[in-house]
Amino acid sequence: MDAPSSFQTDALIAEDIDAYLEQHQHKSLLRFITCGSVDDGKSTLIGRLLYDSKMIFEDQLAALESDSIKHGTQGEEIDFALLVDGLAAEREQGITIDVAYRFFTTEKRKFIVADTPGHEQYTRNMVTGASTADLAVILVDARKGVLQQTRRHSYLVHLLGIRHVVLAVNKMDLVGYDQSVFEAILADYRAFATSIGITAFTAIPISGFKGDNITQAPSANTPWYSGPALIEHLETVEVDAAAAQAQSFRMPVQWVNRPNLDFRGFAGQIASGTIRPGDPVRIVPSGKTSTVARIVTFDGDLDEAVAGQSITLTLADEVDCSRGDMIAAAGDPPQASDQFCATIVWMDEDALKPGRGYWLKIGTQMVTATVQPPKYEIDVNSLEHLAAKTLGLNAIGVAEFATDRPIAFEPYEANRQLGGFILIDKFTNATVAAGMIAFSLRRAENVHWQPTAITRDDHAGMKNQRPCVLWFTGLSGSGKSTIANEVEKQLFVMNRHTFLLDGDNVRHGLNRDLGFTEADRIENIRRVGEVAKLMADAGLIVLTAFISPFRAEREMVRAMLPEGEFIEIFVDTPLEVAEGRDVKGLYRKAREGKLKNFTGIDSPYEPPENPEIRVNTVDMTPQEAAQHIIAKILPLK
Ligand code: ADX
Repeated sequence: MDAPSSFQTDALIAEDIDAYLEQHQHKSLLRFITCGSVDDGKSTLIGRLLYDSKMIFEDQLAALESDSIKHGTQGEEIDFALLVDGLAAEREQGITIDVAYRFFTTEKRKFIVADTPGHEQYTRNMVTGASTADLAVILVDARKGVLQQTRRHSYLVHLLGIRHVVLAVNKMDLVGYDQSVFEAILADYRAFATSIGITAFTAIPISGFKGDNITQAPSANTPWYSGPALIEHLETVEVDAAAAQAQSFRMPVQWVNRPNLDFRGFAGQIASGTIRPGDPVRIVPSGKTSTVARIVTFDGDLDEAVAGQSITLTLADEVDCSRGDMIAAAGDPPQASDQFCATIVWMDEDALKPGRGYWLKIGTQMVTATVQPPKYEIDVNSLEHLAAKTLGLNAIGVAEFATDRPIAFEPYEANRQLGGFILIDKFTNATVAAGMIAFSLRRAENVHWQPTAITRDDHAGMKNQRPCVLWFTGLSGSGKSTIANEVEKQLFVMNRHTFLLDGDNVRHGLNRDLGFTEADRIENIRRVGEVAKLMADAGLIVLTAFISPFRAEREMVRAMLPEGEFIEIFVDTPLEVAEGRDVKGLYRKAREGKLKNFTGIDSPYEPPENPEIRVNTVDMTPQEAAQHIIAKILPLK
C-alpha cells in the first residue's frame, strides 16, 4: 500500500501503519487527531484512551505505575501523561515532521490517533497529522473555555477537510462538573464553528484525569449529560468511505505490472468510485479510452472493486498508461490542467520563493510547479486575509500554481486524496508545503503547441554549428560581461553565429519592470532562460551574463535545454576583489545602505557546485579566460 496520505512522507510511519492495519484487518478503522496543548490535558487524555482500551503492554503499565508514584505528580493516581510522553521519546528518532501516531483497538474498531503539539509554531505538524484524519478531537480546558488556539485548530481542521469534530470539554472535575460551564462553552464554540463552516460537532464533557465520560456515559458526576462517552462516539461515528464510493471512478496508477509479454496490469489504490470488468475508462491526461478487462488481486479476480481497495486493472486495449497517470470513468474524467489555485501551508524555514520551480507531488504524479506571489495570507488567529509577497514557516495562503505538464486532480473539497499535494525543494529534498487544490484555472486550455515545419536541427544545420548556451554566473563586477564579450568576439572571428544577452542591457528592455528582490531575480532568470532557449532553437550559440545568484534557477534553465547544451561558466572572482574594483560604485552604495538587496552584501550568491567551466579574473586576464572557455567548448562544435 502507498503511504496513507499525500502529505505523509515518512516511510517509517507508513510501514508501521501497514503492519498495524493488517493485524486488525477485520475491524473498521478510524483515524483521528487530537488538537490542544499539554495544558489542556491532551497527553493525559490520550494516555487514558490507551489505558482504558487495554492496549498498553503489561510491562509498560507496570513501569508507568511505579513512575507515577515516583514522580508523585498526581497523588496516588496514575499519571497518564507520563505514558504518552514516554512513547513520544521513543518515536522522536527518524520523524521529519514530528507527528506521533498511536495505535489502539477496542472490540469494535481500530484507531490511529495523530498527536501533534498545539502551539502555532507546530502548525505544519498539525497539518501533517490532520491530512489523513477522519475526525478531530478539539480539547478545551473547562476553566478557560474557547481560546484563540481552539479557533486556530478548528479552522485548520476544517481547511484540511475533516468533517467530524468532537469538542471535548476537559477538566470538568476542576469546575465541579458544572453543567452551566459546559453549556456556555458549547454556545461560544457553536457561534464560532458556524462562522467558519463547521455545521455539526459533538460536544462531550470529560475528565481525562478522572475518566469521566471516556468509556461510559453519563458519568455519575454528570447526570445532566445525555450524549455518548468519548470512546463510544469514536467507536460508532460513521466515517465510511461511502462518500468516496459514490463519486466517479478514479485510480492513480502507482506502477505498471508487466511480468511477461502477455500481461500488462495497472496497479494502484482506488481513490473514488466503483469499477467492474467491462466499464469504459479514460486515461488522464492523455485522454485515451479503453474498457476494463480484469480486476486482479492477490486473492483472485474481482467482479467489483471500490474506493480504498488496492487492485491491478488490465485493459482491453493496448493503451499508453504509466505511473502518474490516472485511470478514470470514461464518461466523467477528472480535470487535467497545468494551472490551478490552491491553499498552501508553508512548512519550511526558508520562505516560499514565488517563481521558483518546486517538485509537486500529487498522488503518484510528480511534476515541476512554480507558485505565483500569494493572493493573500490567512491570519490563522483572526482569519483575516493579509497582503503577502511570500509565505514563511507555518503561514497559510492562497496562490496560483503552474505546472510543467498537465496533472489530473479533483478539488480538495471533493476528494482529499485527489486534491492534496506536497511541494518539495529540489535541492534539499525537504517537504516545504502542503497544498489543497481549490479549482483549475482554464487559461492554459486554449493554448496549444504549434508544430513548425523548419526544425531546430534545420536552423542549426544551416549555420553549420551546434547550438548551446554559455551561461556565465558570478558576482557583480566579477568580469562576466567582459569575458563573455571576449568569447563572443573570438567565436565571431571563427564564423560562429552568436548572441550575447547581458544583465544590464536586458534590464533596460525586456526586464525593465524587474528589480532585485528574490522574486524579481527569479523572474529575470526565467525570462532570460526562455529567450536563450528560443535563440538556441534558432541555431545560435547564446552567451548570457547575469549574476543569476540562485542555483535553482540556473538548474531550471539547464532543464529547459537539451542535454549538454547548457554550459555553466562560473566566473569565480572573490567578493573582496570584485568589491575592491567596484567599477560602478555600487558596492560602496550597498555598504552605505543606500542600495538594498545587493548580491554578496545583503543578498545571497549561491556558487555553482559543478560548473562545466570555472574561470576568474585574478589569475588570468579576460582574454586568457576566454581562450580557456573556447578550448573547452570547441570540441562540441
Ligand atoms: S540577477 O541577480 O537578476 O541575475 P542581473 O545580472 O540581471 O542580476 O543584474 C545585475 C546588475 O544590476 C549588476 O551588475 C549591477 O550593475 C546592477 N544592480 C543594481 N542593483 C543591484 C543589486 N541590488 N544587486 C545586484 N546587482 C544590482
